[in-house]
Amino acid sequence: MNENLIEKLFSLKGRVALVSGASRGIGAAIATGLAGAGATVVGCGRSASASEKAGFAYRPCDVTDSTGFRMLCDGLIQEHGRIDVYVHAAGITLPDADSSAREENFDRTIEVNLSAAYRSSLAVAETMRHQKRGSIIHVTSIGSVLGFPGNPAYVASKGGLRMLTKALALDLGPKGIRVNSLAPGYVRTAMTEKSFQDPERNRERAARTMLGRWGEPGDLVGAAIFLASDASAYVTGQDLFVDGGWTAKGL
Ligand SMILES: NC(=O)c1ccc[n+]([C@@H]2O[C@H](COP(=O)([O-])OP(=O)(O)OC[C@H]3O[C@@H](n4cnc5c(N)ncnc54)[C@H](OP(=O)(O)O)[C@@H]3O)[C@@H](O)[C@H]2O)c1
Repeated sequence: MNENLIEKLFSLKGRVALVSGASRGIGAAIATGLAGAGATVVGCGRSASASEKAGFAYRPCDVTDSTGFRMLCDGLIQEHGRIDVYVHAAGITLPDADSSAREENFDRTIEVNLSAAYRSSLAVAETMRHQKRGSIIHVTSIGSVLGFPGNPAYVASKGGLRMLTKALALDLGPKGIRVNSLAPGYVRTAMTEKSFQDPERNRERAARTMLGRWGEPGDLVGAAIFLASDASAYVTGQDLFVDGGWTAKGL
């Protein structure tokens, strides 16, 4: 193995990364992974502190609060001088069956999963354009390309986020900023714990993959490092599915 080549392609040494939705689950795993690849990482979420945190600093911030998010970015620039990578992993799911407030839930889901991704991406792009380099990664879902029952808000938000990725990739490409989506399949986190604990749903979801199992948050790390690093220097506007083969499977 040529270690220099691996270092040149995948190392994030000297890079500064911001990860939203990093208080737990997939965002926390990605933040830890980017730090492991050498980046200085700051993660955020609404929680006062992160329940899973290793190798990165954590700042409370609600991504739907544009002013608060910009202040977070300003703080990063003051402290570290730059932002090279932004991962929008913040997300919520509010299934219709769990509530009678469907319309409010729809709006709230779009606000966190899609509108906040747009505003926060523009905020970091403002800094990245001066650097003439940057990588933005939107965490979408297999629901960005497939219909799932009982949760139109989530599916619409992730489908919208997938297309926002392509539109921003086009607009920001000339500034040297790449924008890609990272689409997990079913991954065991707080968001999916109810389905994971239900034996029938658990089996059904594992059987829909080609690998015959659920994902773990750590399964997303390699793909996130790839999209954040120079290994993907000519990759933009793309969707990278990390779903055990779910979206590629026929029968
Ligand atoms: N688990 C899966 O199977 C799966 C599959 C496909 C896609 N995804 C996506 O992966 C991402 C991470 O989900 P997860 O499975 O890790 O779920 P999770 O454990 O519920 O984590 C969600 C994260 O988003 C943060 N968050 C929610 N609203 C926020 C807001 N307004 N401002 C800032 N942070 C906010 C949460 O932090 P606070 O509560 O502290 O704010 C938490 O850190 C989400 O975008 C989700 O849609 C998950």
